[in-house]
Amino acid sequence: CGIVGYVGPNDTVDVLISGLRRLEYRGYDSAGIAVLDSSGEVAVRKRSGKLVRLEELLEASPVAAGSTGIGHTRWATHGGPTDQNAHPHLGDDGRLALIHNGIVENFAELRSEVDAAGIELLSETDTEVVAALLGIEVARLGDLETAFRSVVARLEGTFTLLAMHRDEPGKVVSARHHSPLVVGLGEGENFLGSDVAAFVGFTQRAVAVDEDNIAIITADEVRITDFAGNPVAFTEYEVAWDAAAADKGGWSSFMAKEITEQPEAVANTVRGRLVDGHVEIPELTALGDDLLREIDRIVIIACGTASYAGMIGTYAIEQWARVPVEVQLSHEFRYRDPVLSDRTLLISVSQSGETMDTLMAVKYAIERGVTTVSVCNTQSATIPRESDAAVYTHAGPEVAVASTKAFVAQITALYLIGLHLGRVRGTLSGDDARRAAEQLEELPGLLGEAVDTHDQIAQLAHWMADTRSVLFLGRHVGYPTALEGALKLKEIAYIHAEGFAAGELKHGPIALIDHGQPVFVLVPSPRTSPLMHSKVVSNIQEIRARGARVIAIVEKGDTSVLPFADDVIRLPLTDVLFEPLLQVIPLQWFALELSAAKGLDVDQPRNLAKSVTVE
Ligand code: G6P
Repeated sequence: CGIVGYVGPNDTVDVLISGLRRLEYRGYDSAGIAVLDSSGEVAVRKRSGKLVRLEELLEASPVAAGSTGIGHTRWATHGGPTDQNAHPHLGDDGRLALIHNGIVENFAELRSEVDAAGIELLSETDTEVVAALLGIEVARLGDLETAFRSVVARLEGTFTLLAMHRDEPGKVVSARHHSPLVVGLGEGENFLGSDVAAFVGFTQRAVAVDEDNIAIITADEVRITDFAGNPVAFTEYEVAWDAAAADKGGWSSFMAKEITEQPEAVANTVRGRLVDGHVEIPELTALGDDLLREIDRIVIIACGTASYAGMIGTYAIEQWARVPVEVQLSHEFRYRDPVLSDRTLLISVSQSGETMDTLMAVKYAIERGVTTVSVCNTQSATIPRESDAAVYTHAGPEVAVASTKAFVAQITALYLIGLHLGRVRGTLSGDDARRAAEQLEELPGLLGEAVDTHDQIAQLAHWMADTRSVLFLGRHVGYPTALEGALKLKEIAYIHAEGFAAGELKHGPIALIDHGQPVFVLVPSPRTSPLMHSKVVSNIQEIRARGARVIAIVEKGDTSVLPFADDVIRLPLTDVLFEPLLQVIPLQWFALELSAAKGLDVDQPRNLAKSVTVE
């Protein structure tokens, strides 16, 4: 869920709504705000559905707001996405309002206390129980801060909570436990957010609130304490993203904009890490070369698109650093009692740096003494802060739920890690190092050419608007790329899609091939991988013979597939390991165009959220 809080002289409703607009990618089942209105009472406006429905409500039923407010955009966990269940929730007979991200696990027990106090609840949410409890405590203890501390200490599960009370205008209290919270520092105004997007339009100065801390903001002051109320020192940092980067800037969707930003995302991720033709990542150097030399196994953990970036990374890191690398889905990792040692390196990959499944896997590894490296796109997010080293991708803010530029930046960062490790471990030949450095420098230009496949893909998608199932085939790094192409289609076009390792086809999936079945085939370069190339061409013949409609993605000049392909998409030449970075781009365009052709919301697909902060 997305969370924003504000105390200051500006139009509180405007500040909250503009924050929620930038946070909407965190969930959009419902949205709501609570403000102290001009008569000093708590006024709530909330609605199920996307933010625009809340904006309509505010137009029909405006509120003259004073200086204090909180806002929420929800991804439903407890209770369906209804008006009633939307946040904020009220307590203390409507005198206080509260919003929540996370899940309160001991909610049933707390609920019986609330029932016993004779308080009637209107929703099915765990949040309303907390709001009611906070009301009881305010009545008992006399002030919001003391009551809030008392409630927070009793909650089990995960939460970011923000609350405000009619009797204490100009103050918002907040707390975090396994769920993100940042403070934005302004001049005569202060902000709270689930991430910096909540306030990046107003200030670039931020403070990351640590785990199990409480932050209290007024217009002039920010105080942070632990749950017991002891003051905690904090340091501010400068947010590198500007507000413009989080705007659509004339594009039909954030996803379209972000697809075109991929050359820059890769260039920015490489920048400063290629020194005199070799890769040097200072954050890894800080871990100590001895440690990197002694590693005997790397485990990459991630979810969704990030896990496919991880799979692609395994090929490159093994090749360059000669160490076994495997990928595990974060939410599977700790349940298998993984074999870990002090010579294991765990690399987590997460765009947001907040995905709860991944965070929990990282914590599990830390508890077992494993060295952890975070590949992350979001400055000062929880996962990089918990990890021993953070290798940031510099893709800029990614707003569309379906990941694009963060994905190519993640692959790039993993490749840089592989090259750094290869150099330190002495397993990377001078030739390979030089060749890889050249490729990294050329990549942005090549990605630009891949972005230009848009028109051709748009036409293809137009013809295929009725398609009900699409298959993707790839070999080697093309296999995870095929998986990612299929995921994109599922996510935003709601079309059944599957990716397969091309060689696996004949062991089962080929039974799916029927007349007209569309199959995208990622064809490796015949120059750099002739053997793989010839095998994939044979796979194309096998499916073509069974009636498939073949869309081949090839490197320019490869004419071998022409007799067997219905459509051919040509990409610039690069080495096989770098092919996914180019091949994925037409697949992203295809999903986007099919989604648009079906009249769907490209950026905010149903049921999904960009950053899933519950397990
Ligand atoms: C969610 C999103 C996916 C994303 C995954 C991992 O499920 O819907 O698009 O790939 O989380 O997100 P992360 O922020 O950890 O990269």
